[in-house]
Amino acid sequence: MNTVVSGIRPTGQLHLGNYFGALRNFVKLQHEARCFFFIADYHALTTHDNPEQLHENVRTVLAEYIAAGMDPQTATIYVQSDVPQVTELSLLLSMHAYVGELERTASFKDKVRKNPSNVNAGLLTYPVLMAADILLHRASHVPVGKDQEQHLELTRVFARRFNNMYGVEYFPESQPYNFGSELVKIPGLDGSGKMGKSENNGIFLADSDAVIRKKVMKAVTDAGPAEPNSPMSEGVANIFTIMNVVSEPSTIEYFKEKHAACEIRYGDLKKQLAEDIIKTVAPIRERIESIRNDDAYLRDVLAEGASRARESASKTVEDVRQIMGIRRF
Ligand code: TYM
Repeated sequence: MNTVVSGIRPTGQLHLGNYFGALRNFVKLQHEARCFFFIADYHALTTHDNPEQLHENVRTVLAEYIAAGMDPQTATIYVQSDVPQVTELSLLLSMHAYVGELERTASFKDKVRKNPSNVNAGLLTYPVLMAADILLHRASHVPVGKDQEQHLELTRVFARRFNNMYGVEYFPESQPYNFGSELVKIPGLDGSGKMGKSENNGIFLADSDAVIRKKVMKAVTDAGPAEPNSPMSEGVANIFTIMNVVSEPSTIEYFKEKHAACEIRYGDLKKQLAEDIIKTVAPIRERIESIRNDDAYLRDVLAEGASRARESASKTVEDVRQIMGIRRF
């Protein structure tokens, strides 16, 4: 592993899915590799129509990055739009991105289905801009959740195509990364699907202990296992999936045995889950507010981050221009 790049769209407060899918990995990797972590504000524009809110969301995500343990001295933290080279690289890469493959992307099809009246060109080229984010620093690894796997596959397709087309070994094949093993998908507690901002089922890093307890106690379960060793319903399985990232293995084992023996009390299971989530979230939450309100500090972090990111980005864009034949006389 030599270079790590990843980003999160500023759509509001970060939730457990963002944390366990991406942020926790960033924080760990910052000491092991050259790391670039950005706030994907251009990407947020594909679905965002409230400028004031967008601006505040950038502040929120930045404060939450730092509160979660990202160290701006060690890692390069920046806002995507502060590094305009990414738009040039995106344009250059788009010349070799086929409309058909972009139209087949699951995230694009999903957005078209959910919002047929706003199928903008930015949505279609979203994966090209994302590939540009990653290839801008020639990333070897990209910490993301499971839902970003297809975008990473496309990034590798674009990188390979570029290398083949120009007969170079320039772009690496960036790999998605999660330090546990597999990429994770954190489910919601509403019975099915993933945890997400637009799903309205987020448990946020900024939530108070009381709010976390309330959200967890409302989690969907079932009437209890019908007989010993019966399979778990989706709602119950989701509780265990979140336990897998926040609880001790012995705790998980204990409740699994209780379920298998038909002795489980879902109230106890939820109480345990809530306390284990609080253990992860509370120390982060306590730092968020003071960081969020420190304008001078945030400005310094972003100025330094943008300057380091631009340095790396200009080098790549200059190389790509040369390779593609955009050359000076
Ligand atoms: P975004 O902003 O939707 O989500 C940010 C990160 O959080 C992860 N994530 C989850 N992981 C597990 N379970 C969940 N329920 C869950 N919900 C969100 C996402 O997988 C992601 O890692 N296109 C990206 C942003 C982006 C990007 C990039 C990422 C733009 N350019 C370059 C990496 C590299 C996105 O929309 O993520």
